[in-house]
Amino acid sequence: MAIETSCDETAVAFLTYTDGKYSVSSQELYSQAELHKPFGGVFPMLAKREHGKNLIYLAEKAAASTVGPTVGSTLSWSSIDISEERKTLALSFLSREPELQAIFKMHFDNPEAFFYKKPDIEAIAVTVGPGLEPALWVGISFAKALSTLWNIPLLPINHMEGHMASILIDNDNSVDMFPALALLISGGHTEMLSIEKWGKYKIIGNTKDDAIGEAYDKVARILGLDYPGGPEISKRAHIIRQTYTVAEAEQLCRNNNIKLPRPMINSGDAHFSFSGLKTAVLYLVRDLVQDAQTDAQTAEKKLTEEQTHLICVEFEQAVVEVFIKKLETAFSQISYLKSLIAGGGVIANTYIKEALQTWCDANEIIFLKPENALATDNAVMIGAAGLVQLNYGYAKLIQPTISDLSEVVARGGWRIDEIY
Ligand code: KG4
Ligand code: ZN
Repeated sequence: MAIETSCDETAVAFLTYTDGKYSVSSQELYSQAELHKPFGGVFPMLAKREHGKNLIYLAEKAAASTVGPTVGSTLSWSSIDISEERKTLALSFLSREPELQAIFKMHFDNPEAFFYKKPDIEAIAVTVGPGLEPALWVGISFAKALSTLWNIPLLPINHMEGHMASILIDNDNSVDMFPALALLISGGHTEMLSIEKWGKYKIIGNTKDDAIGEAYDKVARILGLDYPGGPEISKRAHIIRQTYTVAEAEQLCRNNNIKLPRPMINSGDAHFSFSGLKTAVLYLVRDLVQDAQTDAQTAEKKLTEEQTHLICVEFEQAVVEVFIKKLETAFSQISYLKSLIAGGGVIANTYIKEALQTWCDANEIIFLKPENALATDNAVMIGAAGLVQLNYGYAKLIQPTISDLSEVVARGGWRIDEIY
């Protein structure tokens, strides 16, 4: 079982590993993106509240749909009695989450409650970091409660390892992919890692300031587009690419003085910086608005739709050029790399993904990426990371005792190279 609540997605999944295949038995995901839209980003206390409200229902649904195993699943459930002592202990692990605690209390009186059936699983994998600590705590407390009720070990997972493990789901995992380079691009991270094998990670580059997804979200806000900004910007950039040739689009950008920097592109290392790119968009918009015609009806000066779209295309071009250059740098500095593993919400971006694929093909490098639905946050990837840890012998299982479970805490800034 896997649980993810590090940001604004609440998710639960059940996974199995059979004959070298990582398969999903069931998964439930609730995205809070709509709720956070008015804030232009994730509001941590709202995220926490929503996780608390929804987690148990998502777990119930995920549990119910594993009954009668789906393809590749061998999950079975058995009815159990739970002692009063275990119930009290489970509630104590929920003391940080009063809403969730109240829901559990209510469910204890219902003999049909999902936790009175115990799944035949090895562990409950839960994201403990990195992420927003108030949000992480909800998943952690929930996992501790279930671990106590079912007497099943808990397995703390690093969210970024989850993003990497997302490539394994329903894939041919017989390819010899290590040593590998990983490019993890999400709302909170922009990291390059060299990977000797699963669990053995070395960060070789990261962002000095904003993460790439954060840059997408902030630029979207400057352009008056909705949160999350990634899909909004990429949609508009795509319109330009479909309407004009590359040369025409470049000419239009030049006509409008739309040119953005490629930050740190020539730094000769694998580090990134995106805050300057965002600020460049801010100044560009300010200048363009100043020169804009005043709208007769609203008496407002604003960008034309085409100008907004051109900024999106130029922004995305800058991002892709930076990524490709950084890959060239990393691959030239580290020998014997066989593959590129890409993960994180921003890899849902088709243009970026295709650019990486083209570069890998040209350089005879295996390109491994998740399917789009598994690029953004989900619990399947957390389960995949848990199964990888169990398979490769570095899982640090937490036994369901008060003292061991009490030591598991949210680790908002947990670096992936601290795992092994
Ligand atoms: O991995 P993720 O779901 O959450 C974190 O762990 O941060 O990534 C979320 C980020 C957001 O910043 C969002 O704008 C970005 O991924 N994103 C995209 C696209 N879809 C989501 N960025 C660019 N293009 C997309 N299609
Ligand atoms: Zn993520």
